[in-house]
Amino acid sequence: MSTFSTTTKQSPSLLEKRLQINYLSSSNQPTNQDDGKDIITGLTQIQKRLPPRYFYDDKGSQLFEQICELPEYYPTRTEAWLLQEYASEIAKLTGACELVELGSGSSTKTRLLLDPYQQQGYPLRYVPIDVSGGILEESSRQLLIDYPTLEVQGQVGTYEQAMSQLNPTPLPRRMVSFLGSTLGNFTPQECDRFFSQITALLEEGDYFLLGIDLQKTKEVLEAAYNDAQGVTAEFNQNMLAHLNWRFRGNFELNSFIHKAIYNQSQTQIEMYLYSQKSQNVCLESLNLMIEFEAGEKILTEISRKFNVEQMQQYLQAQGLKSIQAWSDPKHWFALLLCQLHTS
Ligand code: AVI
Repeated sequence: MSTFSTTTKQSPSLLEKRLQINYLSSSNQPTNQDDGKDIITGLTQIQKRLPPRYFYDDKGSQLFEQICELPEYYPTRTEAWLLQEYASEIAKLTGACELVELGSGSSTKTRLLLDPYQQQGYPLRYVPIDVSGGILEESSRQLLIDYPTLEVQGQVGTYEQAMSQLNPTPLPRRMVSFLGSTLGNFTPQECDRFFSQITALLEEGDYFLLGIDLQKTKEVLEAAYNDAQGVTAEFNQNMLAHLNWRFRGNFELNSFIHKAIYNQSQTQIEMYLYSQKSQNVCLESLNLMIEFEAGEKILTEISRKFNVEQMQQYLQAQGLKSIQAWSDPKHWFALLLCQLHTS
Protein backbone atom coordinates (compact mmCIF):
# COMPACT_ATOMS: atom_id res chain seq x y z
CA MET A 1 0.00 0.00 0.00
CA SER A 2 1.29 3.46 -0.94
CA THR A 3 2.19 5.76 1.94
CA PHE A 4 1.81 8.87 -0.26
CA SER A 5 -1.28 10.96 0.11
CA THR A 6 -3.30 11.43 -3.07
CA THR A 7 -4.81 14.78 -2.00
CA THR A 8 -3.23 17.95 -3.40
CA LYS A 9 -2.77 19.94 -0.20
CA GLN A 10 -0.35 22.85 -0.62
CA SER A 11 2.25 23.77 1.96
CA PRO A 12 1.53 26.96 3.93
CA SER A 13 4.37 28.78 2.16
CA LEU A 14 2.90 28.02 -1.30
CA LEU A 15 -0.42 29.22 -0.05
CA GLU A 16 1.10 32.50 1.17
CA LYS A 17 2.54 33.10 -2.32
CA ARG A 18 -0.97 33.31 -3.68
CA LEU A 19 -2.04 35.81 -1.02
CA GLN A 20 -1.31 39.50 -0.95
CA ILE A 21 -3.01 41.89 1.45
CA ASN A 22 -2.63 45.65 1.31
CA TYR A 23 -3.61 47.71 4.33
CA LEU A 24 -4.92 51.00 2.98
CA SER A 25 -6.10 52.46 6.27
CA SER A 26 -5.97 52.16 10.02
CA SER A 27 -9.76 51.90 10.14
CA ASN A 28 -9.87 49.80 13.32
CA GLN A 29 -7.91 52.27 15.39
CA PRO A 30 -9.72 54.52 17.86
CA THR A 31 -10.16 58.20 17.10
CA ASN A 32 -7.83 60.21 14.92
CA GLN A 33 -8.25 63.96 14.72
CA ASP A 34 -10.73 63.97 11.85
CA ASP A 35 -12.71 61.11 13.29
CA GLY A 36 -16.19 61.97 14.46
CA LYS A 37 -16.81 65.14 12.43
CA ASP A 38 -19.66 63.31 10.71
CA ILE A 39 -21.19 62.63 14.15
CA ILE A 40 -21.06 66.28 15.16
CA THR A 41 -22.68 67.25 11.84
CA GLY A 42 -25.35 64.56 12.14
CA LEU A 43 -26.33 65.18 15.76
CA THR A 44 -26.56 68.93 15.39
CA GLN A 45 -29.16 68.83 12.60
CA ILE A 46 -32.88 69.36 13.23
CA GLN A 47 -33.55 65.73 12.31
CA LYS A 48 -30.67 64.14 14.23
CA ARG A 49 -28.87 61.42 12.32
CA LEU A 50 -25.88 59.11 12.73
CA PRO A 51 -23.79 57.67 9.88
CA PRO A 52 -24.49 53.93 9.35
CA ARG A 53 -20.77 53.21 9.13
CA TYR A 54 -20.75 53.29 12.96
CA PHE A 55 -22.85 50.11 13.05
CA TYR A 56 -19.87 48.00 12.17
CA ASP A 57 -17.61 47.51 15.15
CA ASP A 58 -16.83 43.83 15.93
CA LYS A 59 -20.11 43.27 17.75
CA GLY A 60 -22.09 45.14 15.09
CA SER A 61 -20.55 43.00 12.34
CA GLN A 62 -21.48 39.85 14.27
CA LEU A 63 -25.02 41.12 14.77
CA PHE A 64 -25.29 41.87 11.07
CA GLU A 65 -24.27 38.27 10.28
CA GLN A 66 -27.09 37.19 12.62
CA ILE A 67 -29.56 39.49 10.86
CA CYS A 68 -28.71 37.80 7.56
CA GLU A 69 -29.92 34.49 9.02
CA LEU A 70 -33.22 35.80 10.41
CA PRO A 71 -36.42 34.32 8.98
CA GLU A 72 -37.85 37.82 8.25
CA TYR A 73 -34.67 39.15 6.61
CA TYR A 74 -35.07 37.76 3.09
CA PRO A 75 -32.39 39.78 1.12
CA THR A 76 -29.31 37.66 1.89
CA ARG A 77 -31.07 34.36 1.29
CA THR A 78 -32.75 35.56 -1.90
CA GLU A 79 -29.53 36.96 -3.33
CA ALA A 80 -27.68 33.72 -2.50
CA TRP A 81 -30.42 31.79 -4.34
CA LEU A 82 -30.02 34.07 -7.37
CA LEU A 83 -26.26 33.52 -7.39
CA GLN A 84 -26.71 29.77 -7.07
CA GLU A 85 -29.11 29.77 -10.02
CA TYR A 86 -27.39 32.24 -12.32
CA ALA A 87 -23.67 32.48 -11.49
CA SER A 88 -22.71 30.07 -14.26
CA GLU A 89 -24.64 32.23 -16.75
CA ILE A 90 -22.75 35.25 -15.40
CA ALA A 91 -19.41 33.47 -15.90
CA LYS A 92 -20.38 32.53 -19.47
CA LEU A 93 -21.35 36.12 -20.26
CA THR A 94 -18.18 37.72 -18.86
CA GLY A 95 -15.53 35.11 -19.69
CA ALA A 96 -12.23 35.23 -17.78
CA CYS A 97 -12.14 38.15 -15.37
CA GLU A 98 -10.72 39.33 -12.10
CA LEU A 99 -13.43 39.32 -9.40
CA VAL A 100 -13.35 42.46 -7.26
CA GLU A 101 -15.80 42.41 -4.35
CA LEU A 102 -16.70 45.62 -2.53
CA GLY A 103 -17.52 44.92 1.13
CA SER A 104 -16.47 41.28 0.92
CA GLY A 105 -17.06 40.52 4.64
CA SER A 106 -16.77 36.79 5.23
CA SER A 107 -16.78 36.13 1.43
CA THR A 108 -19.67 33.65 1.79
CA LYS A 109 -21.25 34.56 -1.54
CA THR A 110 -17.89 34.64 -3.27
CA ARG A 111 -17.77 30.87 -3.57
CA LEU A 112 -21.01 30.91 -5.54
CA LEU A 113 -19.22 33.08 -8.10
CA LEU A 114 -15.82 31.38 -7.98
CA ASP A 115 -17.29 27.90 -8.56
CA PRO A 116 -18.57 28.48 -12.12
CA TYR A 117 -15.43 30.40 -13.15
CA GLN A 118 -13.41 27.42 -11.93
CA GLN A 119 -15.70 24.90 -13.66
CA GLN A 120 -15.45 26.83 -16.91
CA GLY A 121 -11.65 26.65 -16.67
CA TYR A 122 -10.95 30.37 -16.17
CA PRO A 123 -8.02 31.62 -14.09
CA LEU A 124 -9.21 32.58 -10.60
CA ARG A 125 -8.21 35.96 -9.27
CA TYR A 126 -10.09 37.57 -6.41
CA VAL A 127 -9.77 41.07 -4.94
CA PRO A 128 -11.79 41.37 -1.71
CA ILE A 129 -12.19 44.90 -0.32
CA ASP A 130 -13.27 45.43 3.27
CA VAL A 131 -12.57 47.70 6.24
CA SER A 132 -12.20 44.70 8.52
CA GLY A 133 -8.70 43.26 7.99
CA GLY A 134 -9.21 40.32 10.36
CA ILE A 135 -12.25 38.90 8.57
CA LEU A 136 -10.72 39.59 5.15
CA GLU A 137 -7.49 37.71 5.97
CA GLU A 138 -9.25 34.79 7.58
CA SER A 139 -11.74 34.27 4.77
CA SER A 140 -9.05 34.74 2.09
CA ARG A 141 -6.90 32.01 3.65
CA GLN A 142 -9.86 29.65 3.70
CA LEU A 143 -10.61 30.39 0.04
CA LEU A 144 -6.97 29.70 -0.90
CA ILE A 145 -7.21 26.27 0.74
CA ASP A 146 -10.45 25.45 -1.06
CA TYR A 147 -9.43 26.81 -4.49
CA PRO A 148 -5.87 25.62 -5.21
CA THR A 149 -5.34 27.88 -8.26
CA LEU A 150 -6.88 31.01 -6.77
CA GLU A 151 -4.84 34.20 -6.30
CA VAL A 152 -6.06 36.76 -3.76
CA GLN A 153 -5.13 40.45 -3.65
CA GLY A 154 -7.01 41.73 -0.57
CA GLN A 155 -7.43 45.46 0.06
CA VAL A 156 -8.17 46.55 3.62
CA GLY A 157 -9.77 49.97 3.58
CA THR A 158 -12.80 51.92 2.49
CA TYR A 159 -14.32 51.55 -0.97
CA GLU A 160 -13.03 55.00 -1.89
CA GLN A 161 -9.46 54.19 -0.88
CA ALA A 162 -9.46 50.82 -2.62
CA MET A 163 -11.11 52.04 -5.80
CA SER A 164 -8.54 54.78 -6.26
CA GLN A 165 -5.58 52.49 -5.54
CA LEU A 166 -6.22 49.21 -7.40
CA ASN A 167 -3.46 48.01 -9.72
CA PRO A 168 -4.37 47.09 -13.32
CA THR A 169 -5.50 43.49 -13.66
CA PRO A 170 -3.41 40.90 -15.54
CA LEU A 171 -6.67 39.25 -16.71
CA PRO A 172 -8.56 40.36 -19.84
CA ARG A 173 -11.35 41.97 -17.83
CA ARG A 174 -12.44 42.91 -14.36
CA MET A 175 -15.85 42.40 -12.75
CA VAL A 176 -16.60 44.55 -9.71
CA SER A 177 -19.42 43.15 -7.60
CA PHE A 178 -21.43 45.16 -5.09
CA LEU A 179 -23.85 42.75 -3.47
CA GLY A 180 -26.33 42.67 -0.59
CA SER A 181 -28.11 45.87 -1.69
CA THR A 182 -25.56 47.93 0.24
CA LEU A 183 -26.18 50.57 -2.43
CA GLY A 184 -29.56 51.07 -0.71
CA ASN A 185 -27.79 52.52 2.33
CA PHE A 186 -26.42 55.40 0.22
CA THR A 187 -28.27 58.68 -0.22
CA PRO A 188 -28.80 59.64 -3.89
CA GLN A 189 -25.80 62.01 -3.67
CA GLU A 190 -23.58 59.30 -2.17
CA CYS A 191 -24.79 56.99 -4.93
CA ASP A 192 -23.72 59.47 -7.65
CA ARG A 193 -20.29 59.85 -6.03
CA PHE A 194 -19.93 56.07 -5.75
CA PHE A 195 -20.68 55.54 -9.44
CA SER A 196 -18.24 58.19 -10.56
CA GLN A 197 -15.57 56.25 -8.64
CA ILE A 198 -16.69 52.93 -10.11
CA THR A 199 -16.63 54.18 -13.68
CA ALA A 200 -13.19 55.72 -13.09
CA LEU A 201 -11.92 52.33 -11.91
CA LEU A 202 -13.44 50.23 -14.71
CA GLU A 203 -11.95 50.05 -18.20
CA GLU A 204 -14.06 49.94 -21.35
CA GLY A 205 -15.70 46.47 -21.49
CA ASP A 206 -15.28 45.69 -17.77
CA TYR A 207 -18.30 44.42 -15.83
CA PHE A 208 -20.24 45.55 -12.79
CA LEU A 209 -22.49 43.15 -10.90
CA LEU A 210 -25.03 44.77 -8.59
CA GLY A 211 -27.41 43.18 -6.04
CA ILE A 212 -30.47 45.32 -5.25
CA ASP A 213 -33.44 44.94 -2.97
CA LEU A 214 -36.74 45.67 -4.74
CA GLN A 215 -39.87 47.58 -3.74
CA LYS A 216 -42.50 45.42 -2.05
CA THR A 217 -45.24 45.65 0.58
CA LYS A 218 -44.78 47.70 3.73
CA GLU A 219 -45.63 44.61 5.82
CA VAL A 220 -42.84 42.46 4.40
CA LEU A 221 -40.31 45.29 4.60
CA GLU A 222 -41.14 46.42 8.11
CA ALA A 223 -41.06 42.83 9.38
CA ALA A 224 -37.56 42.41 7.88
CA TYR A 225 -36.27 45.44 9.80
CA ASN A 226 -38.24 44.91 13.05
CA ASP A 227 -37.55 41.22 13.57
CA ALA A 228 -39.34 39.31 16.31
CA GLN A 229 -36.12 38.22 18.04
CA GLY A 230 -34.95 41.82 18.40
CA VAL A 231 -31.59 41.30 16.67
CA THR A 232 -32.04 44.39 14.47
CA ALA A 233 -32.96 46.40 17.59
CA GLU A 234 -29.72 45.24 19.23
CA PHE A 235 -27.77 46.06 16.05
CA ASN A 236 -29.25 49.58 16.06
CA GLN A 237 -28.62 50.20 19.79
CA ASN A 238 -25.11 48.80 19.48
CA MET A 239 -24.21 51.84 17.43
CA LEU A 240 -24.60 53.88 20.62
CA ALA A 241 -22.35 51.45 22.52
CA HIS A 242 -19.79 51.84 19.74
CA LEU A 243 -19.96 55.64 20.05
CA ASN A 244 -19.64 55.39 23.84
CA TRP A 245 -16.46 53.35 23.44
CA ARG A 246 -15.00 55.31 20.60
CA PHE A 247 -15.77 58.86 21.70
CA ARG A 248 -16.09 58.49 25.49
CA GLY A 249 -19.84 58.88 25.38
CA ASN A 250 -22.58 58.22 27.93
CA PHE A 251 -25.53 57.09 25.80
CA GLU A 252 -27.81 54.91 27.97
CA LEU A 253 -28.60 52.12 25.54
CA ASN A 254 -31.94 51.17 27.03
CA SER A 255 -33.30 54.68 26.89
CA PHE A 256 -33.25 54.59 23.07
CA ILE A 257 -35.76 52.28 21.39
CA HIS A 258 -35.40 50.87 17.88
CA LYS A 259 -38.07 51.21 15.23
CA ALA A 260 -37.91 50.88 11.45
CA ILE A 261 -40.62 52.33 9.20
CA TYR A 262 -41.14 52.06 5.45
CA ASN A 263 -41.42 55.51 3.92
CA GLN A 264 -43.55 54.71 0.87
CA SER A 265 -43.10 58.02 -0.92
CA GLN A 266 -39.29 57.74 -0.72
CA THR A 267 -39.41 53.93 -1.17
CA GLN A 268 -36.98 53.50 1.70
CA ILE A 269 -36.80 51.87 5.10
CA GLU A 270 -35.81 54.41 7.74
CA MET A 271 -34.28 53.06 10.91
CA TYR A 272 -34.61 55.19 14.03
CA LEU A 273 -33.67 55.23 17.71
CA TYR A 274 -36.34 56.97 19.82
CA SER A 275 -35.30 58.69 23.01
CA GLN A 276 -37.56 57.41 25.80
CA LYS A 277 -37.10 60.49 27.97
CA SER A 278 -35.76 63.99 27.92
CA GLN A 279 -32.02 63.60 28.42
CA ASN A 280 -28.57 65.04 27.72
CA VAL A 281 -25.85 62.92 26.18
CA CYS A 282 -22.19 63.79 26.16
CA LEU A 283 -19.45 62.59 23.78
CA GLU A 284 -16.36 63.76 25.61
CA SER A 285 -13.73 63.20 22.91
CA LEU A 286 -15.80 65.27 20.52
CA ASN A 287 -16.55 67.99 23.05
CA LEU A 288 -20.19 67.49 22.25
CA MET A 289 -23.29 67.67 24.44
CA ILE A 290 -26.62 66.87 22.84
CA GLU A 291 -30.12 67.41 24.23
CA PHE A 292 -32.90 64.97 23.46
CA GLU A 293 -36.59 65.56 24.04
CA ALA A 294 -38.77 62.64 25.11
CA GLY A 295 -39.88 60.86 21.92
CA GLU A 296 -37.26 62.54 19.73
CA LYS A 297 -35.70 60.24 17.15
CA ILE A 298 -32.27 59.73 15.57
CA LEU A 299 -32.16 58.46 11.98
CA THR A 300 -29.43 55.79 11.88
CA GLU A 301 -29.96 54.24 8.44
CA ILE A 302 -31.90 54.45 5.21
CA SER A 303 -32.30 51.32 3.11
CA ARG A 304 -33.61 52.29 -0.31
CA LYS A 305 -35.73 49.83 -2.27
CA PHE A 306 -35.36 49.89 -6.03
CA ASN A 307 -37.11 49.18 -9.30
CA VAL A 308 -35.13 47.22 -11.92
CA GLU A 309 -36.00 49.37 -14.96
CA GLN A 310 -35.28 52.64 -13.14
CA MET A 311 -31.98 51.28 -11.91
CA GLN A 312 -31.01 50.14 -15.41
CA GLN A 313 -31.76 53.63 -16.74
CA TYR A 314 -29.68 55.17 -13.98
CA LEU A 315 -26.78 52.80 -14.65
CA GLN A 316 -27.02 53.48 -18.39
CA ALA A 317 -26.70 57.21 -17.68
CA GLN A 318 -23.44 56.40 -15.83
CA GLY A 319 -22.10 54.54 -18.89
CA LEU A 320 -22.98 51.10 -17.49
CA LYS A 321 -24.96 49.30 -20.18
CA SER A 322 -27.29 46.58 -18.95
CA ILE A 323 -26.32 43.07 -20.10
CA GLN A 324 -28.83 41.02 -18.11
CA ALA A 325 -30.99 41.17 -14.99
CA TRP A 326 -32.18 38.22 -12.90
CA SER A 327 -34.88 38.20 -10.25
CA ASP A 328 -36.47 35.59 -7.97
CA PRO A 329 -40.05 34.33 -8.53
CA LYS A 330 -41.49 36.83 -5.98
CA HIS A 331 -39.49 39.74 -7.51
CA TRP A 332 -38.09 40.65 -4.13
CA PHE A 333 -34.44 41.01 -5.12
CA ALA A 334 -32.46 41.41 -8.35
CA LEU A 335 -28.97 40.90 -9.73
CA LEU A 336 -27.95 43.25 -12.52
CA LEU A 337 -24.96 42.63 -14.76
CA CYS A 338 -23.75 45.60 -16.77
CA GLN A 339 -20.71 46.59 -18.79
CA LEU A 340 -18.85 49.87 -19.13
CA HIS A 341 -19.30 51.52 -22.53
CA THR A 342 -18.10 55.07 -22.60
CA SER A 343 -18.54 55.68 -26.35
C1 AVI B 1 -26.06 46.31 4.84
N1 AVI B 1 -27.38 46.70 4.42
C2 AVI B 1 -27.62 46.36 3.01
C3 AVI B 1 -28.48 46.23 5.31
C4 AVI B 1 -29.85 46.68 4.78
O1 AVI B 1 -30.72 45.82 4.65
O2 AVI B 1 -30.01 47.85 4.45
C5 AVI B 1 -28.27 46.75 6.71
C6 AVI B 1 -29.37 46.38 7.65
N2 AVI B 1 -29.91 47.18 8.52
C7 AVI B 1 -30.82 46.54 9.21
N3 AVI B 1 -30.90 45.32 8.76
C8 AVI B 1 -29.98 45.19 7.79
